[in-house]
Amino acid sequence: MSFVFAGLAALATLKSSGAVSSNATLGSLPPQSVFVDPRSFAVIGQNGTFRASSFEGFFNPTSTTPPFFQIFDQEFLKVLGASPSLTEIASNPGFAFAHEAPIYVPETDELFFASNDGGLLGMSDLDHNNEVSKISMAEVEAALARKSSSPVNVTVTPLNLSDTIQMTNGGTGPFRSQLLLVNSGRGPLPPNIALVNPKAPFNSTIILDNFFGRQFNSLNDVKIHPSGKIFFTDVTYGFLNNFRPAPLMPNQVYRLDPDTRAVRVVADGFDKCNGIAFTADGNTAYISDTGATGGNSTQTEPSTVYAFDVDPISHVFKNRRVLAYVDAGVPDGIQVDTNGNVYSGTGDGVQTWNSEGTLLGKFFLGTTSANMVFAGKGRLVILAETKIFLANIAAEGFDLGGN
Ligand SMILES: *[C@@H]1O[C@H](CO)[C@@H](O)[C@H](O)[C@H]1NC(C)=O
Ligand SMILES: *[C@@H]1O[C@H](CO)[C@@H](O)[C@H](O)[C@H]1NC(C)=O
Ligand SMILES: *[C@@H]1O[C@H](CO)[C@@H](O)[C@H](O)[C@H]1NC(C)=O
Ligand SMILES: *[C@@H]1O[C@H](CO)[C@@H](O)[C@H](O)[C@H]1NC(C)=O
Ligand SMILES: *[C@@H]1O[C@H](CO)[C@@H](O)[C@H](O)[C@H]1NC(C)=O
Ligand SMILES: *[C@@H]1O[C@H](CO)[C@@H](O)[C@H](O)[C@H]1NC(C)=O
Repeated sequence: MSFVFAGLAALATLKSSGAVSSNATLGSLPPQSVFVDPRSFAVIGQNGTFRASSFEGFFNPTSTTPPFFQIFDQEFLKVLGASPSLTEIASNPGFAFAHEAPIYVPETDELFFASNDGGLLGMSDLDHNNEVSKISMAEVEAALARKSSSPVNVTVTPLNLSDTIQMTNGGTGPFRSQLLLVNSGRGPLPPNIALVNPKAPFNSTIILDNFFGRQFNSLNDVKIHPSGKIFFTDVTYGFLNNFRPAPLMPNQVYRLDPDTRAVRVVADGFDKCNGIAFTADGNTAYISDTGATGGNSTQTEPSTVYAFDVDPISHVFKNRRVLAYVDAGVPDGIQVDTNGNVYSGTGDGVQTWNSEGTLLGKFFLGTTSANMVFAGKGRLVILAETKIFLANIAAEGFDLGGN
């Protein structure tokens, strides 16, 4: 799947001349990383081979074998730290068990996530629910300590959830010590928002399943604002993946007050709104628009992370602007670190921008990641459908549970 362009010869020339030597520019690079200087590929030339697709063939001019860190800006070195690692920690080649809804529970050192709902290798459809599972990060650490940096395959434990929870696609928290899941619904069964006990018996409480009596399209992703309000995206993927009826509302972003249960729209005008995140101070919101994928989409539709100011009183999203258009697949789930850098799952792994929207680098997997989550100090767990990866880096997340 890796992509080599004909202009590589030019890259080699630049390197050997020392004029724009990447090593010289950055000094010694951390393990598992390559520096791809934007100057080395700015001109491909008339006889070069250009990429025609965002979805087939990725931008890997050094033809490095994934997984690796692809550095485009030296600011990424601060994200990675001096001795980063990027390792596969679980895999199941036949089952997309690790798609979305990553939630880290510090109390038990466990990581929860959902399988693909209605998509490739998801083993779920109109007649079959998807699965929410967990892994133990203590088991991950123990396995890695035994095998250093080679892939390990820890136990994936499915949860036995209430059948009010159908086609889980988003999750965050812990919120008031519970997992917060958003569920897409299945057939006539309504999309909803659920609180789930992160410990056995994994009992749950549905806190919203309609908008003034109307069903949502298929809820996709969720975050808790520092104010304690719950924000979620609703989009047509349930219909596009053939497990929900035709959509009856626009694709938009909602706010739920978990106490009064008042619900309102805070942003619209999307093609397909998808991932959501806030900065730690709650002043900025990020929404990904995955318009380029699903149904009759084409890559001329959005593949874009948008930034907004969050109104301090109404929480309406204002001043929409582009943070980043991605070069590979679509930007899906989003997380923000304590320095305000933005991470999104994309077609080739996880991409990271600073708050100005400069692409700092990629956690290059050569395959799709739909979401990721910080899981305690220096740990970023990356979901990649049939695999899970652990990145040990310098960057850190913050409490996603709101006040
Ligand atoms: C740095 O130099 C080493 C040794 O010559 C080479 O293997 C590596 O690919 C270089 N890294 C980059 C990013 O050019
Ligand atoms: C491009 O290919 C043409 C035809 O082979 C050749 O004449 C030309 O010199 C090439 N240009 C470059 C910049 O290599
Ligand atoms: C990892 O373990 C799971 C569960 O036993 C198994 O289904 C899967 O094939 C294993 N992965 C690999 C790469 O062997
Ligand atoms: C799952 O929960 C249901 C309802 O509580 C119960 O009937 C069933 O036995 C449980 N299944 C497993 C595998 O624990
Ligand atoms: C699970 O059950 C316990 C005990 O009844 C209750 O305190 C808790 O609120 C329940 N959790 C959820 C998410 O419903
Ligand atoms: C896709 O395009 C075809 C042909 O124009 C049309 O029949 C179909 O309804 C479209 N599907 C969607 C999901 O828009």
